Amino acid sequence: MINPWSSSQYFDYEKLIKEFGIEKPDDYFDYFMFRRKLIFGQRGLDYLEYAIKNKMKFNAMTGLMPSGHMHLGNKLTIDQIIYFQSLGAEVYIAVADLESYATRGISFERAREIAINEYIVNYISMGLKPCKIYFQSENFDTQSLAFILSNGTNMNELKAIYGLNDSSSMLHVNSPIIQAADVLHTQMRHLGGPRPTVVPVGVDQDPHIRLMRDLAKRLRIYSVKSDHGKISVFIKGTESPEKYIDNAMEELSASSYECTPNYEYRAIYIKNSKEEERIKIDMILANLEGGFNEYAFVEPSATFQKLETGLKGGKMSSSVPDSLISLNDSPADATKKIKHAVTGGKQTVEEQRKLGGNPDICPVFELYKYHSNDDKYVTRVYEECIGGVRMCGQCKSEAGENISKFLKNLSEKKDESFRKIDDYLIKRSS
Ligand code: TRP
Repeated sequence: MINPWSSSQYFDYEKLIKEFGIEKPDDYFDYFMFRRKLIFGQRGLDYLEYAIKNKMKFNAMTGLMPSGHMHLGNKLTIDQIIYFQSLGAEVYIAVADLESYATRGISFERAREIAINEYIVNYISMGLKPCKIYFQSENFDTQSLAFILSNGTNMNELKAIYGLNDSSSMLHVNSPIIQAADVLHTQMRHLGGPRPTVVPVGVDQDPHIRLMRDLAKRLRIYSVKSDHGKISVFIKGTESPEKYIDNAMEELSASSYECTPNYEYRAIYIKNSKEEERIKIDMILANLEGGFNEYAFVEPSATFQKLETGLKGGKMSSSVPDSLISLNDSPADATKKIKHAVTGGKQTVEEQRKLGGNPDICPVFELYKYHSNDDKYVTRVYEECIGGVRMCGQCKSEAGENISKFLKNLSEKKDESFRKIDDYLIKRSS
């Protein structure tokens, strides 16, 4: 079981791939987090590739929990959002102020301040271009959609996904559904209709991803199934299927598909289709359905990033302040924390010269690997470490300089970013 509410978790990434059906990314995306396998898994990312290859619109979505400070570990999600934005994604960001009120008692006013000052201003300084950021507490679309989505699941399913029991708080029922609504509402008709939508997350959020993908499928009238490359379309619901079948056949024939209807089985069989065309067919039908079903959504895609190790080994956690670098730390504080970090080094300098260090278990090496976009540089650091020519002291001060430069840049841009905030926040919708 993956539990998004537990704070102490280690993940065996290979096992997640084997047991939870998370898939490995292919090499379509040429971005350092993919190249370095920092994004180790994905679900449904082929939809995003399809949208990009075919110059179709697509969305990127994430949410932030306004509590505490934004730290280097949270930065990875925003790096990806900025990357997808550069590929053309329309970006949405939810401020999870309902969640932070419910779980930490943070008032909406305070959540707003934290979200803007600790998170959004940094996102802008990091290069996020104007996009749509909203507050859960103010968004009528997401709240009403959550209500509707709740009809698509039941307690047995939530128990199975989250390990809930009869005394679990209803918050653990409501918050995954609100989160599903955060993601899916970006495909509502007045926002552009059904579109591939990518959600970059840490793997602890996978239960939410599975749930929202299932909910999206359940609201659709057309469902596309592929059996060894033979594609069929099924019409769900209790209404008579004729008009749905006829309309779909018309659309599919216009794209040169040869279709045979089966009214009794509420199905259309497509003759000349190949496995690769499943997405195309699904998108054709999603767009058709979007015309009459306000809640016709394309299953969202997800990327799963590895969790960065804390500077003390173990998890980066706000309850261990020295385990993480907050984006509001001064360069001096950050340098000090890095100096006191654990490493993959040997006991003595002599031994390290002889045997080399172990960058694979070193949180200081991770600072390079997760936060430098220069592949050659990162490889050089790695090789110098295992080759015994790079000592931990020197390596820490170099990492400290790099991170300080990044932090200094953020603080210099702060005022300017703050002034741009109106290009990002969308007005309340009720
Ligand atoms: N639950 C997420 C967290 O704790 C925040 C969140 C809310 C979110 N809505 C979202 C994340 C939508 C991704 C997509 O960090």
